[in-house]
Amino acid sequence: MSQIRAAITGIQGYVPDYILTNAELEKMVDTNDEWITARTGIKERHILKGEGLGTSHMAAEAVQGLLTKTHTAPEEVDLLICATTTPDFIFPSTANLICDMVGIKSIGSFDIQAACSGFVYALTVGSQFIETGKYKKVIVVGADKMSAIVDYTDRTTCVLFGDGAGAVMLEPNTEGFGIIDSIIRSDGAGQPFLNQKAGGSRYPPTHETIDKRWHYAYQDGPSVFKFAVTNMADVAAEIMERNHLTGDDVAWLVPHQANKRIISATANRMKVGMDKVMLNIQKYGNTTAATIPLCLWDYESQLNKGDNLILAAFGGGFTWGSVYVKWGY
Ligand code: ACO
Repeated sequence: MSQIRAAITGIQGYVPDYILTNAELEKMVDTNDEWITARTGIKERHILKGEGLGTSHMAAEAVQGLLTKTHTAPEEVDLLICATTTPDFIFPSTANLICDMVGIKSIGSFDIQAACSGFVYALTVGSQFIETGKYKKVIVVGADKMSAIVDYTDRTTCVLFGDGAGAVMLEPNTEGFGIIDSIIRSDGAGQPFLNQKAGGSRYPPTHETIDKRWHYAYQDGPSVFKFAVTNMADVAAEIMERNHLTGDDVAWLVPHQANKRIISATANRMKVGMDKVMLNIQKYGNTTAATIPLCLWDYESQLNKGDNLILAAFGGGFTWGSVYVKWGY
């Protein structure tokens, strides 16, 4: 029997309606459109507004859309994995909440937390259940409400992030399409450079943690930048080399959308022209675990069966990774 691979058979994204532009940010902090555009490539981002709406709201919208689009009944789904760094609650998991919201009952569901590499991690984990033959339909959703942990008085981070969600369906394929290879890596020594200090077990919420603004995302941008440029490019190059792919063989680079300059450096290293790089950072900003599925969603109509896609991400942890996908439809 031919090898079973996990093929992506459907993709659906969701972004909330409210658009936060660079012009609006200019009124909130000491920044300007020129700086943001030149340093990051971001023009606007979508923000989830509304009392009591968390990451699960956006993820459930994406998953519901995916079920409809792929003509899948909730009872057919075998497993749901949610990659997020902004779960609705510490517990229960956001994956549990999503299942309940879309009518998926009594299956395994859990969250994966790998910051901006979350979707690459979750895709890697989800694919194992298909490849072993255990499950037939696995949903992987990347979703983050970064606006919940962004300090809108800190110009060094508030211009970067947005909210969104994207979900894919994984199903078995024995014709050579699907996830061919993946690499996931981490280095916990990166913690000081990118983190949310309080709210977990080390620093539970107190008046002091709030006064110190420790419940917001903190980033030492230049340190993360150096790390990201090297590791995202390295891991993408590594997965290409070990699968004997040249830049010409790659139809699309699907990079995590954190900074246009990091994306260009990665494409350069892979010898892939910018015309083959999925880019939507200008309209969504960095939506953490949602960037890669939102790219696939935006570019779906341009994808062809058999296209070689290299997904590459890096993020807090530090975490980084890459997935080689042979597109199946
Ligand atoms: N508007 C205007 N000026 C600003 C702003 C702003 N929004 N933010 C910072 N500046 C200023 C700084 O204060 C600094 O001024 P100074 O020179 O007087 O000190 C100057 O601009 C340059 O600041 P840098 O931080 O050195 O700018 P840099 O070119 O490094 O760009 C950025 C900052 C965009 C954050 C970049 O470092 C970056 O992209 N880092 C990596 C981000 C990333 O990939 N994160 C990982 C994923 S996120 C996750 O996992 C959750």
